[in-house]
Amino acid sequence: MKTLLLSAAEIGAAAEILRRGGIVGMPTETVYGLGASAWDEAAVARIFEAKGRPQDNPLIVHIAGLSALDELAAEVPDTARELARRFWPGPFTMVFPKKPSVPDRVTAGMDTVAVRFTAHPLAQELIRRAGVPIAAPSANVSGYPSPTCAAHVLRDLGGRIDAVIDGGPCACGVESTVVSVVGPPRLLRPGSVTLEQLRTVVPDIAVDKALRGEVGPDEKVSAPGMKYRHYAPKAPVIAVGGDRDGSALYIRSRMGGRDLCLCYEECAGIFAGRRALVYGSLADRASLARGIFAALRDADRQEPETIYVQCPDEAGVGLAVSNRIRKAAGFREIVADRSGRDTKEKG
Ligand code: TXA
Ligand code: MG
Repeated sequence: MKTLLLSAAEIGAAAEILRRGGIVGMPTETVYGLGASAWDEAAVARIFEAKGRPQDNPLIVHIAGLSALDELAAEVPDTARELARRFWPGPFTMVFPKKPSVPDRVTAGMDTVAVRFTAHPLAQELIRRAGVPIAAPSANVSGYPSPTCAAHVLRDLGGRIDAVIDGGPCACGVESTVVSVVGPPRLLRPGSVTLEQLRTVVPDIAVDKALRGEVGPDEKVSAPGMKYRHYAPKAPVIAVGGDRDGSALYIRSRMGGRDLCLCYEECAGIFAGRRALVYGSLADRASLARGIFAALRDADRQEPETIYVQCPDEAGVGLAVSNRIRKAAGFREIVADRSGRDTKEKG
């Protein structure tokens, strides 16, 4: 199969492909998604096949207006309305009890459905023109870092999907914040809508323990996607948090010639002459979110033995960035002090 690379001006062709049961890579403000009509079970099955996605991992359904929510959710609690007012359209997903009409393929047999009203103008236009809600996971090969530009999608899925719309690089760079509103609101996956922001609406919001990897092998996980090793390049990843310069000094002292480091812009000098890629600035956490997945992909292409990553603390979007890094590292993190020598390990 030849995968078409479509420009923004060709969005009508992409909508037509979706109406006919095709699957299309599409830009969103978070990461690129791999979309199909949420009502078309055969098309949704093709998404799982193209990604090599485990059958028990449900998809997010994307909408372009609040009215579509009533076709999907059996019940919308008042807090969910409040969260929607505050964070939609945007990088924010809510899990609702599902209507019986939502196909089991989409929800992987769960009795809930995840819904996101995306803010991306091209994604919104695609949903409107296709005339259906679009079920879309991130458009990467399952387990690999999410794609933040059309070239990433083509590299992972070219030849296996019908088309990709090139909408340029993604503004957020990490996947949406996922909150369950089935029962007391609970954060299932951190994203660009931060925990601090969520607390302004739901002060006592619960935080799922899967977020920090604190789930035993036989325990049930609320967001099935959280249980898989994820966002992971081929090379093993070592996450190093703690002090800004101390973590850089620690990594530098450990790095062998075949290792590579993803570092903060502020620490680039510490890695002069070493194999290091800057993925963003610690002073601008949004830049870390925008850069992390592309940097993990770039690092992997250099085939290093080990990838060390400077890992921010959990303030703001740091929670989402550190979650992705720690997940790629199997939830182990080394915490460096200022000297870069005395370290402890968490996770
Ligand atoms: O930003 C995003 O959310 C991107 C863009 C394309 O919208 N999509 C995305 O999809 O990241 P995906 O499939 O890579 O991650 C969806 C996450 C998974 O962890 C999945 O298990 C969880 O959401 N999820 C989906 N439906 C769910 C449900 N009904 N209950 C609990 N978790 C659900
Ligand atoms: Mg994904």
